[in-house]
Amino acid sequence: MVTITAFDPPADQTSALLAEVGAIVEQLVVHAADRRVLGHPRGDDLVATLREDRPDELPGELHDVLGTLQAVLATGVDNAAPGELAYIPGSGLLTAALGELIANVSNRYTGLAGFTPAAVALEQSVLRWLTELFDLPERAQGVLLSGGSAANLSALVAAREKHAGGRADRATVYVGEHAHASVRKAARIAGIPGANVRVCGSLDGARLDPEAVRVAIKQDLADDLIPIAIVGAAGTTNAGAIDPLGQLAHLARELGVWFHVDAAYGGFFQLTARGRQRLAGIELADSITLDPHKSLFLPFGTGALLVRERDDLARAFAEDADYLRDHAGDLDALPDFSSITPELSRAWRGLRLWLPLQLHGVAAFRDALDATLDLTAMAVERLDAGPNIEVIGHPDLSIVTFRVDGDDSDQDAVLAAVNADGRVRLSSTVIDGRVALRLAILSHRTTEETVDLALRLLASAAHERVGI
Ligand SMILES: Cc1ncc(COP(=O)(O)O)c(C=O)c1O
Repeated sequence: MVTITAFDPPADQTSALLAEVGAIVEQLVVHAADRRVLGHPRGDDLVATLREDRPDELPGELHDVLGTLQAVLATGVDNAAPGELAYIPGSGLLTAALGELIANVSNRYTGLAGFTPAAVALEQSVLRWLTELFDLPERAQGVLLSGGSAANLSALVAAREKHAGGRADRATVYVGEHAHASVRKAARIAGIPGANVRVCGSLDGARLDPEAVRVAIKQDLADDLIPIAIVGAAGTTNAGAIDPLGQLAHLARELGVWFHVDAAYGGFFQLTARGRQRLAGIELADSITLDPHKSLFLPFGTGALLVRERDDLARAFAEDADYLRDHAGDLDALPDFSSITPELSRAWRGLRLWLPLQLHGVAAFRDALDATLDLTAMAVERLDAGPNIEVIGHPDLSIVTFRVDGDDSDQDAVLAAVNADGRVRLSSTVIDGRVALRLAILSHRTTEETVDLALRLLASAAHERVGI
């Protein structure tokens, strides 16, 4: 029976706490390959109990309390399992979580560089690695945020401040049909009217058409509106398609607007030779959203924004306060993150990137992403060879969309049959007004075996449903 008797527990209690938590973590990591994405109970009784649960006045017994957590982990969808092929997952790397543990327990303050310059320098080293990965100039600056939505929001605020100042109501933004919903949400939060978010036409139904953007911007200029940003996607959520980034960047420069690339899903493929080739033009962006909690396999809550000109971040987010006058920073040496992001107090997020990058090395991430591209190519080849399945377009990255012969209800039925197995999960979407199935490969845990299983289940479900 262990109870925790102090906020800073004595050695025996701290050891017991770490050992019990360690056992749960060990189970998740060491047996990760056996984790099933589906097939766990929904846990309706547990939900009903937990909703009504309230903390006691007195300390709970350690094992009992952690038992509740284990009960939760035995329910629902395990989206960090190897068979998660439905949505873009994050794997929750142990080394990142441990970095976070140290960051949280030490709780060093990194909103201002002057408190612990070395902690900020450590985070800055990761950010420089990122800006260099994308060939951004010396004056570029990155910031770590909670995710892609926060990064897209910060980018649009910076673009608005640069191009429209206080006239948000006249600002206009140009997006593709398949832009992520967080871009529209960001515009709204940034005070840009929903009607001023121009959804421009596509090439091949998948990629933002630069000519459509040009026409829309010219029209808005003629109407005395203020075009502030073109948003391109480096991997749409729906189909993984990459917009023509180079052309959009040149158009943005020609017309004097900001070019933001939402690379939340696809950005880290830049680490691979194939990805770098496919993402060509991204280096011309004014800002890039990245989501290490997607394509760098880190735990949720890890997003990044890279901005070409660091002064653009300061213009958007710097604010003076008398009580901070002792801590005036010098961005040339180290950034005050509170002056270039919406946050003041912030987690020392850098550690959740720095520790995994140091402990695994960059090549491990490159190889894992390369492996997902190989698995995608294998999936496309086998789906193409199947008698009753049509692949829709060729994937730019690691999301494959396809249709089984038949109508929308056939797609739904085949999806349900595949997912009923529980070891893999696929999803569906709508492309050109028709339901399509979707295979998204983006976990370091997904292996050839996993994809092979998904394809076999799919072939047999398709055969059952539509014959051939
Ligand atoms: C292309 C794209 N942009 C932005 C987002 C939003 O990112 P987050 O969920 O980290 O807020 C997503 C999430 O799926 C995405 O796929």
